[in-house]
Amino acid sequence: MMSAPVYQDGVLAHARGGERERLRLLEELSDPTTITIFERLGVAAGWRCVEAGAGAGSIAHWLSARCPDGRVTATDLDVAFLSERPTPANMTVARHDVMRDDFPAGSQNLVHARALLSHIPDPEHVLDRMAGWLVPGGWIVLEDPTYLPAAASPYPKFAELLEACQQLLARTQGTDHTWARRIPAAMARSGLTDVGMTVRVAVCGTDETEDAFWRQCFTQATPALIDTGLMTAEQIAAAVAHLDDPAFTDTAWVMVSCWGRRPS
Ligand SMILES: C[S@@+](CC[C@H](N)C(=O)[O-])C[C@H]1O[C@@H](n2cnc3c(N)ncnc32)[C@H](O)[C@@H]1O
Repeated sequence: MMSAPVYQDGVLAHARGGERERLRLLEELSDPTTITIFERLGVAAGWRCVEAGAGAGSIAHWLSARCPDGRVTATDLDVAFLSERPTPANMTVARHDVMRDDFPAGSQNLVHARALLSHIPDPEHVLDRMAGWLVPGGWIVLEDPTYLPAAASPYPKFAELLEACQQLLARTQGTDHTWARRIPAAMARSGLTDVGMTVRVAVCGTDETEDAFWRQCFTQATPALIDTGLMTAEQIAAAVAHLDDPAFTDTAWVMVSCWGRRPS
């Protein structure tokens, strides 16, 4: 039974204008780190993998090519973007709510979720359930964003906008940007071993793709930021104008990537 998902009513819903492009940009920015981790963990031809909250599906397709003798299940609450491309023979696309729907115990070599669990209530519980899907020796890779302190930014208007976007997501869909740094401890509590973490800091003002991603995030958030009284249109415009200034460079978010293994 599917839930009534808050995420799909929010500013990041697939139906929002621009969300498909925002996810494409997220993939372009984040896939290299994800793939480096998978290569280090030794993802192999026969692995069975779950890509949860697969979004537009680039990682599911990468895994499908990497695991020709295995099986990839790409899941999402809304599989519309996943259905845009032909589904390879070793991939299943499934509508699946990670808060409720399960996979058989001990069935997967790899479970991956990026920018998903920070949007979910009780991510620790979801992690515990995911750990149960793993074969002995199987890996979970979880990636979620967190932020550096706004007070440390030399650009207070830009920092205020980032802060307001975090508050908006927290209020409207329960997003918790403190989750990312709790992942390693949660993995250890869940009984996973060989836990590790790496981060990628997003830098605005020097990279076209990064700036395009943030412009799209701000465009999607603008009506709700104004409606909720978190920011005025003038404040948002002043913050976004930094991206047009060739002298501007600052950090946006930090993507935290963690991995842990079910003991053999
Ligand atoms: C920010 S996007 C990230 C997409 C993709 N993982 C990536 O990093 O490119 C989050 C995705 O999780 C999906 N999602 C949100 N809540 C979910 C849930 N309860 N179960 C499954 N998917 C969910 C959304 O529909 C969306 O596609």
